[in-house]
Amino acid sequence: MNVYDGQRIAGMLTSRGMKQTDKVSEADIIILNTCAVRAKATDKVFSALGRIRNEKKPDALFGIVGCVARESGADAFRRIPELNFVLGPQSYHKLPEILENPDIKLLNIDLGGLEKFDELPQLEKSPAVAYIPIQEGCNHCCTYCIVPYTRGRELSRPFNDIIKDTIHAANTGAIEICFLGQNVNGYKYTDQEGKTYRLSDLIREAAKLNAIQRIRFTSSYPTEMTNDLIDMFRTETKLLPFLNLPIQSGSQNVLTRMNRPYSLDLYIDIVNKLKSARPDIQISSDFIVGFPGETDSDFEQTMEIAKRVKYINSYSFKYSPRPHTAAALMPDQIPESIKSARLAKLDAYLNDLQREFNTSCIGKIMPCLYEGVDKTGRHLVYRTPYMQQCITDTVGEAIPHLAQIEITDANKASLRGKIIK
Ligand code: 5AD
Ligand code: SF4
Repeated sequence: MNVYDGQRIAGMLTSRGMKQTDKVSEADIIILNTCAVRAKATDKVFSALGRIRNEKKPDALFGIVGCVARESGADAFRRIPELNFVLGPQSYHKLPEILENPDIKLLNIDLGGLEKFDELPQLEKSPAVAYIPIQEGCNHCCTYCIVPYTRGRELSRPFNDIIKDTIHAANTGAIEICFLGQNVNGYKYTDQEGKTYRLSDLIREAAKLNAIQRIRFTSSYPTEMTNDLIDMFRTETKLLPFLNLPIQSGSQNVLTRMNRPYSLDLYIDIVNKLKSARPDIQISSDFIVGFPGETDSDFEQTMEIAKRVKYINSYSFKYSPRPHTAAALMPDQIPESIKSARLAKLDAYLNDLQREFNTSCIGKIMPCLYEGVDKTGRHLVYRTPYMQQCITDTVGEAIPHLAQIEITDANKASLRGKIIK
């Protein structure tokens, strides 16, 4: 979502004649697009702001957008008085106001709903992977999560608007569509005639476009994985055989305290249904360790579920208490040393699973999407259908395309491959 927001912010400014630069000292406007999901991300923003204010041109405008802006509000101006603007994730389309009136301090952290999508200009040229937001906000209210506060209640965009964006992306260079939402598979939109559309309808419609060869979506909530959506994995070959389906914890007690009221049996049942719809599907997860009250036995159950599902490519985090969340006020907060030890153990195991899966890919031929040139400038980098990075030895055409690649080698982080055609 932040990549999408970043692209739109850049698009808004370039359409006004501005150019991007990597050098803070050259910039006329500096924007930090921020994430507030864990305390570490927020802390990084403020240390970066401290650095930037010393490096920037004296008259350069600078400010923050996104979730830290929403979380900090006017306090951000108190901490960094040089800031010119603080705009929340649903009000960054107001950014041009500061260009027209650079002498004001612009603060807008309103939850404006879907208004920004109507106001943002379309990108002239789509990247090969087009991120298309379909809903924003979240009604799940997991007790650890700041997102319902920063991005607001869940809202689904009109079906026709999303299809318009998808067609525009397809006509201007997109090869892959990634539908986005904090609770993407909860997408539900009822039009004026009373017809209701779900994510499965969007996938079916996007798959009709010839230019679009790969479709995926993120982030999903387990119980919103309805049968119509599972069936898409059976019928739509353009849908990639890879799904991030965060379980967060393998302990039923912890899940209840997280306010994620699904049973582990139901979760496993959904994974099995997905596997029977698409035998080559692989699942990844997000995990939180050290949630308040998590016992050794709770944690071991998380290790167990990881073994059972054999996740690939997962994300794991130490629980981080966040403002505006219920879990931050819970008793039995877990000491940092225990969180670290649990995270190290889980990470080591998830890395083993990842390495095992990567190694199992050697010898296979996969359609991979060109992503760019590596740091040395001598190799092309691709993404496999499982979102693994694959580096090829030969230099090919540096334009967005799909290539059949034979996987020749693998380690934990990436694959090596040979272009077949
Ligand atoms: N502490 C640690 N991890 C968190 N996440 C969300 N909130 C927190 C928190 N307070 C993780 C979840 C989610 C991912 C995007 O971030 O695992 O799926
Ligand atoms: Fe946060 Fe995801 Fe839970 Fe929504 S479903 S509250 S975004 S962790």
